[in-house]
Formats: sequence, structure tokens, C-alpha cells
Amino acid sequence: MSSIQRIRTQKKKVSLSLLVHPQWLAGEKSKDKKSQPYGGSVTDNAETSARWLDARAKTMRLIEFRGNLPKEITCPDTGLRINTANGTIPKQSSYTCGACGTVQDVLTTVKASGKSGPVAPYAIQAYSPKRDRAGFAYGGRYFLPAEDPRTIIAAQQEWENRKDADLAAYWPRSELPFGFMTHQNNGGIPNHGFTHWWKLFGTRQLLTNSLLLKAIIEVGGSRHSITAREVVLASFLNYVRNQSMLSFWHRAKDHFAPALSNDNFHPKDTSIEVGAFVTTGYGPWRSAVSGLSDALDWIANPWELVAREGDGPGTKSDKVYPQDMVVQTTTNLHCGSATDLKHLQTGAVDLVITDPPFGGLLHYSELSDFLYVWLRLALKERYPDIFNSEYTPKTLEAVSNRARNPDNPDAHYKRLLAASWTEAHRILKPGGMLTFSFHHSEDAPWVSVLESLFEAGFYLEATWPIRSDETKGEGSKPGTFGSQKIEFDIVHVCRKRTQEPTSVSWAKMRRQVLQDVRSLKHLLEHHQKAGLPEADLQVIRRGKALEYYSRHYGKVLVDDGRSMTVLEALVGINQLLEEEAGGVKDPPPVTAEPFTRQFLRLFDGGVSLPRDQMRKFLRGTGIAPSDLGADPLDRRHFS
Ligand SMILES: C[S@@+](CC[C@H](N)C(=O)[O-])C[C@H]1O[C@@H](n2cnc3c(N)ncnc32)[C@H](O)[C@@H]1O
Repeated sequence: MSSIQRIRTQKKKVSLSLLVHPQWLAGEKSKDKKSQPYGGSVTDNAETSARWLDARAKTMRLIEFRGNLPKEITCPDTGLRINTANGTIPKQSSYTCGACGTVQDVLTTVKASGKSGPVAPYAIQAYSPKRDRAGFAYGGRYFLPAEDPRTIIAAQQEWENRKDADLAAYWPRSELPFGFMTHQNNGGIPNHGFTHWWKLFGTRQLLTNSLLLKAIIEVGGSRHSITAREVVLASFLNYVRNQSMLSFWHRAKDHFAPALSNDNFHPKDTSIEVGAFVTTGYGPWRSAVSGLSDALDWIANPWELVAREGDGPGTKSDKVYPQDMVVQTTTNLHCGSATDLKHLQTGAVDLVITDPPFGGLLHYSELSDFLYVWLRLALKERYPDIFNSEYTPKTLEAVSNRARNPDNPDAHYKRLLAASWTEAHRILKPGGMLTFSFHHSEDAPWVSVLESLFEAGFYLEATWPIRSDETKGEGSKPGTFGSQKIEFDIVHVCRKRTQEPTSVSWAKMRRQVLQDVRSLKHLLEHHQKAGLPEADLQVIRRGKALEYYSRHYGKVLVDDGRSMTVLEALVGINQLLEEEAGGVKDPPPVTAEPFTRQFLRLFDGGVSLPRDQMRKFLRGTGIAPSDLGADPLDRRHFS
């Protein structure tokens, strides 16, 4: 069974299910009746693939069902009864072998074949402007079975003839370099047969993409400026996202979605090819270039988005035109690592604005290679310093990456961040300002950022929560669809520390913070009435407390005269805010440092605690069970 579509009529919604006939899903043997091999993978030659496509098209049949799909339907042509609940897929990522009937794991089979899985089309979504104008359901779109493979076969033949001739310089040949997203996520992409970047594209997609790239570089000779060609290249990268085996039919949204819609290389089971020059919808070249005219419109009359007042996340915003026009001036762009800004003089800069990576949430350089390998083909001669290397530079990337830094990925991330802050500190004027945004969904990466920031000689002047535009709410791990839930970006405003911090005891700072939080209370309550959610207010309170801590960084002393770490400070601040909000009865004495305090709160007179309960108690405090010395091997009790 394939995707389920929804048809909207003027009066009511009708659901439409598109089923692929079980005869087609039964598959094909590896050879035809004359023992000639079938191709079908992007690495197969045009002759074997033509045989495969012809054979696949012969059994292609779609069954369209309107209304609520019953458990069983009967094919009107063949009389076959089809169980719609189970389909022909026995379990996730598995299939039943047509030849021997055994259930097999798809990845195991693909791996054993030594190439990417064979691909054949099964459905075409067509569009009729006439039907659309006549008010037919589904905007004039409809489905056809992919019964005629001639155009694909012709494209495959053309690719075979031209790929090492006039198109040789216009498609990437490099392998996927070893990385987390490529080799450790999703069962390892090379295990799916995707050992080289070009194998992540179908044959016809390779032909289209390389023809377009060739045209962008060559068409019109000296009639077109290099700048114009470079601008179009930006759209070409959009197009490459639209035209690959990772571009897919989004079942829930019932439309095309490009590769990297989610930040991974998860192989797709609903890969889709969009006609390069079709005139409707999202995905063709026309939609890839539309951003260029949008950009020109924005330059002519810049706009900002303003959220409608009092609404929660996901609400609509309005466009406002502040008349803040783009100034025509010369801007120097420099591509390099923030850890090394030697082209900028010491103490010369007024303001540094940056948006650092968030721990190991996104692996920018590894994901960028998917596009970089295409872009490089066009730019390596003109910009050898930047595009000489086969892949995006990785050594200095501030990211927590288990593949490249298996021993201690977090330490690498922190080291690179620290080096970046140190450079920012060097180039800033004494009164200069550093401001950066940082996602906030968990404390650990935030601790790394703050610690390295304070170490570099900055203090926090203010923190502002803003709703993150990356909140996707489909909460999931890398490798699946939907990114992790991130609630906030926090804008941090920092200055250079110009004098040595003075000592202060945590107990005293606690009192000071408490006083401030109380005096903020009235103001914040007012905001709450105006619709600012409690979570935002909590970020403001925590920010306020951290500002104090940062001013005395390294000199905030706990009882034994030891200075308090950022993690301890965050834990202490969380406790303080919780107690202030009335969430804790009989809090431990104020002189207890945060970890001891948590310890006392946890056990509350008892001597042991079920592990699950401890985890529950510690959630949101900033402390992991191991921080309290809990033995990870003892799964039951902590005593
Ligand atoms: C959160 S993203 C910034 C996103 C950007 N603000 C935007 O809206 O497109 C973090 C960026 O930092 C870059 N990055 C990682 N390490 C870096 C380094 N050492 N120097 C400069 N940039 C780095 C990553 O490649 C990534 O593009």
C-alpha cells in the first residue's frame, strides 16, 4: 500500500488511498526468462536497467480507493483479495522474497548485493489545468500507474553516452568521507549502497542535474557575468535538494519534500522525482529559483515578521515593512574558522555577532558535503583556497562528533568553542560587545558554552529568550523524521571583563539572586498576564542569576573555599527558583552547596531510592545520576 492522499472538495474531505497492486510488490527475480540479468541500481548499465524497467512496468497496477479504507478489498481486474491493514510488507524494513517466500531484512539484502537497491517507478502524479479550472477535486491532480518506462530508459541511455564525455566535469565522483551522519547513523549510508555522493541520485536525476550545472557554467559564454552565474548556482543547490533519492513524498503532508528536510541522510522509501520544468507545485527548477526574485523583492523593500500578540508557538505572524533599507556599500566576506581570525587586528572590533553550533545536534559539515561536492565543480578553479579540498573542512568544526572524535567528542566541542571565544575576545575593543544566540533544550551543552565563554574573559550582561524558529515538535532522534524539540534561542549579550572578579560566597550570591528574582516577580507576572509563557519567564530568571555568577566567575565560593563550577551554579539556580516557586517543602539549609542540597532533597531522611524515582527527581535539575556517584550498573536502587 502506498501513501494516503486527501481530496478536498468544496463541501467535504474525502480520503483517497492509493494501493500498489500486490503483483507488483511481489518483485522480480534477479534474471529474466532468458537468464539475462536485471539492473535497476544507479550503478547498473543502461541495457540491464532497461530490461528491469520494462519487466517492472508490465505488472504495474494501481488501485485507487475513495472513502475510508476497509480491512480487505478485492481488485476489480484480477479478483485478488487484498488485506489493506498488513499490505505486503511483513514488518518494518522487511520484505517477503517473491522467489522463496522468506521474510528478509531490506538492508541485509541490499548490503549483500554490493550496490544500492534497484529502483522502479510505480506512480505518476499528473496535473490537468483543465480539471483544475473545472473545479475537480484535489486541485486537478490525479494519479497514473507508471506503465511506460520509455522516457526513463531514454534518459539512462543518454546518461551512459554522455557521463564520461561532455558531462564528465559536471557530476561529483568523490566517496562519502567517514563521518557520524554518513557511517554511524541510519545503519551506515554506505551499507545501503550509497558509497559515493553520486549514488544518492537516480540516473535520470544525475542527467538533469549535470545538464543544468553545465548550462549554468557555459550558456551564453561572455554574455553572462560570472556574478550572475554564481547567483544562479545558489538556486542550483536548492534544486539538487529537490532532485535526489533523498527527495521524498511526505505522506502526512501529501506533497513533495526535499532532501535534508530533516538533518540526516535517512534513506527514503517514497523517493520522488519532480519534472524539471513542470509549471506547478514545489520541486521543479521554477520553485528552486523563486527564492532569487523573493530576495530581490526583499532588498527593494525589506520586511520583518512580527508574531501576533499573545499567541503561543505555531501561530501566524504578520509582515511589517520597517523601511530599514539595504545600504549600498562594500562588505568584506571572509570564509574561515572563528578560531583563527588573524585577518582582524587585536582590539579593533566593536561588535561580534555569532550563532554557534549546539553540541552534537547538527553535523553541519557532514550534511553540507551533499551539496558542496556539486558546488565545488563550478567554483574550484575560481576560488582554489576555499574549494580546493574535496570536502567541507572538518578539523576545526565546533561540534560534538562521535565518529571524528570518538574518545571525547564533547571535549572537542568545548575546546573549539573556547578557542572561538578567545579570538572574539582578542579582536574586540575593551568596550566591545559579543552577542550570540544559543538553542536551549537541555543544560549540558549550555554549560559547555558558558564555561568556555567565561574562561575566555567574558561576562554575561543580559540574556533574552526568543522563540526558536527550529521548534519542530516531532521530537525524535537523529535518523528519523522530525527534529528534536527545541523551545528557545537565548540571545546572550556579553562584555569583556576589564577587572579581576571579586570573591563572593554562594550563600551571599543566593540571597542577592533571590532578592532580584523577587523584585522581578511583579514585572514578570505582568508579562505573564500579557501572554508570556512561564517557560520564557524561567529563562529570564535563570539568565538574571547567571549574570551575577558570570561577574564573579572563578570566585564564587562554596563552603570549603572551593570555587563553584558553571554546572553547580546552574543546578543551584534551578533549585533556588524551584524553592522560590514553592515547589519544595522544608528545603535544606541555605549554606549547603547545590549537589549536597540535591542529595539531601532526594533522600529526605531515607537511605535508599529506586533508580527510576531518582531519575524522575533529577529531571530538569541539571544533574545526571552519575554526577551524584550513582553506579550505572546498579539498575534498581541507589543507596
Ligand atoms: C547554528 S549554525 C548557524 C546558522 C546560521 N545562523 C543560519 O541561520 O544559517 C552554526 C554554524 O557554525 C558553523 N561552525 C562550526 N564550527 C565553526 C568554526 N570553527 N568557525 C566558524 N563557524 C563554525 C557551522 O558550520 C554552522 O554553519
